[in-house]
Amino acid sequence: MMPMRWNECEIILGPLEVYDYSEAPVKTSAHHLSEEAESLRAELRRHEHLYYVLDQPEITDAEYDALMRRLQALETAHPDLRTPDSPTVRVGGQPREGFRKIPHSVNMLSLDNALNEDELRAFDARVQDLLEGAPYRYVAELKMDGLSMAARYKDGMFDLAITRGDGSVGEDVTENARTIRSMPLRVERSEPIEVRGEVVMNRASFDRLNLEREDQGLTRFANPRNAAAGSLRLLEPSVTASRRLDYYTYFLFDENGRHVFPTHWESLEWLTSHGFKVNPKRRICADVDEAIAFCREFEAEREMLPYEIDGVVLKIDSIAQQTQLGFTAKAPRWAIAFKYAARQVDTEVLDIEVSVGRTGALTPTAVLAPKLVGGVTVSRATLHNEDEIARLGLEIGDTVIVERSGDVIPKVVRVKLQGSHRKPFHMPKQCPVCEGRIVREEGEAASRCINPNCPARLKESIGHFASRGVMNIDGLGDVLIDQLVDSGLVKNVADLYDITAADLEKLERMGPKSAANVIHNINRSRFLPMPRVISALGIRFVGERTAELLAGHFGTMDKIAAATREELQGAEEVGPRVAESIYVYFREPHNQALIERLRRAGLSFEYTVREKKDGPLTGLTFVITGTLAGMTRDEAKKVIEIAGGKVTSAVTRKTSFLLAGEEAGSKLDKARSLNVSVIGEAELAEMIARDK
Ligand code: IVH
Repeated sequence: MMPMRWNECEIILGPLEVYDYSEAPVKTSAHHLSEEAESLRAELRRHEHLYYVLDQPEITDAEYDALMRRLQALETAHPDLRTPDSPTVRVGGQPREGFRKIPHSVNMLSLDNALNEDELRAFDARVQDLLEGAPYRYVAELKMDGLSMAARYKDGMFDLAITRGDGSVGEDVTENARTIRSMPLRVERSEPIEVRGEVVMNRASFDRLNLEREDQGLTRFANPRNAAAGSLRLLEPSVTASRRLDYYTYFLFDENGRHVFPTHWESLEWLTSHGFKVNPKRRICADVDEAIAFCREFEAEREMLPYEIDGVVLKIDSIAQQTQLGFTAKAPRWAIAFKYAARQVDTEVLDIEVSVGRTGALTPTAVLAPKLVGGVTVSRATLHNEDEIARLGLEIGDTVIVERSGDVIPKVVRVKLQGSHRKPFHMPKQCPVCEGRIVREEGEAASRCINPNCPARLKESIGHFASRGVMNIDGLGDVLIDQLVDSGLVKNVADLYDITAADLEKLERMGPKSAANVIHNINRSRFLPMPRVISALGIRFVGERTAELLAGHFGTMDKIAAATREELQGAEEVGPRVAESIYVYFREPHNQALIERLRRAGLSFEYTVREKKDGPLTGLTFVITGTLAGMTRDEAKKVIEIAGGKVTSAVTRKTSFLLAGEEAGSKLDKARSLNVSVIGEAELAEMIARDK
């Protein structure tokens, strides 16, 4: 299942007004509500397990999301209905200032490695020797490339998650771990337990995250392990929640770090049957030959797995035998990691080509003299961006080391030998697809084609233009967009306003009724207010809110288009980076032509500012930090906004008040250093009451 799409969710969520619930208690008994909350929780838990643990979803993302929103609404309206194991906690709670250190119940050791078959046999010979001829067997598991984490459960509830740290003391990452969907929040066992396993990010989430980061001008994560580690240690759990981590377990202990079952395999079975995710690709091996066969089998399958592995872990199955074998100073004698060799090869860079991605970012790719790497012919490798090429010191004609690892696309590790006729690479000044202007903004790694009509970017721009909250053209989904662009009917978003129902009916699977419906929705979009049109243009850094502020400040599209960088910065919340992006956008001839056509199509180019309702806090800007006693920060935000105030996220000289709760941290320091007044909830309530 792919990540949720907003428009899908909202379509289904339409009738599920939050207020249905907050207003419901008058009519509905408390008992009924708590029953409904519990049944929603049970339902959500079941679907989480089906999706995140078993990979067998029964409902769509949108349906899941609708259930979640319904429960959230219920819990918001009736906080007493909230339980600590409710699936709603996964959206990520309060940010924190740092991580508590927690000692491990028993040290989290690492494993000795075997780099080839001989080393594996040597390990096995030692085991045989130490067990003095007694029969034994191995459990073979994949060695997931992530980071290990311990999770404790008390009274059947998830209680604490600790990173490996230095092995004896780790960090408390409970709030972040809670957001991992495959992490059960409760378990059918009242005695305390500790499970251990690996936090990983699958390849798809990793690729998506890196795309987003590139789009935001941030550096890429080098591999899924780094991405998983970075995501688990974020101070903002809601960001961790968005990173889609996974938790694969492989140990079960009691509270003293002792095994619960006499064999390792039984622990894995118990974990599986109690809602934990255990990699099903595991096997009992009667001897070292069977274990080696397992290693070889998955070396071949490695590339096809949705997550990264760097080897196989072999463990002696019997816990009594594990105890007999014991530990060396740093690793157990009853387990070994068989590490796969990095699949590297050296080859020549014949050329560097540039392609245009969906956000207009230009990606250089090395064209290689084809070579076999781990059974696959490699002839191209991504170079990401100009900085990466500079970091590698790479020029065309060099011989490089290429590796296939996390990314499906191979990467250049380093230059091995400079070519005798090497040629430096330069980013093109014009888009290789549309010849539009290429811009590399300060502080950004990517160079971009800024022409939104560039065919390479077109489908993405149309999708954005038509989406909910923007031009709201229902029925204009990915399939239709593909058809419209591929058939040449639409070459830029303005063409949408010229197509007819007859044009649409000629497309495959498009009946007269759907065609008329799409045309109706396109026509309806002509009447949407100007901020929608601004955000529909897809100018970088200009979302709904900035569009609204720009429209309010300038009043007409022409004034925005003509504004200098300085004038643009005169609008609220528009800083130099946003101003630059808007300024450059309106200077691009393709964009100017597009704007003219949209004007002719009758879209709103003027904005009548809605009268702002004045309140006791009009003109005041607030920042909220820490844990408030009487309300959540979202609720506080609403209260302030209803009273006419504004809430922003960072403390600056322009901030009027910092509303600080318990455990306020860096924002409090910042406010003090800038002499911004710090108030509590009571003072806020007074301000609102006093001025009424
Ligand atoms: S067992 C005594 N099983 O590999 C420690 N580890 O090199 C035994 N890992 O720190 C660890 N998959 O982070 C074990 N199925 C698996 C694993 C696994 C990945 C990681 C883990 C550990 C490292 C050891």
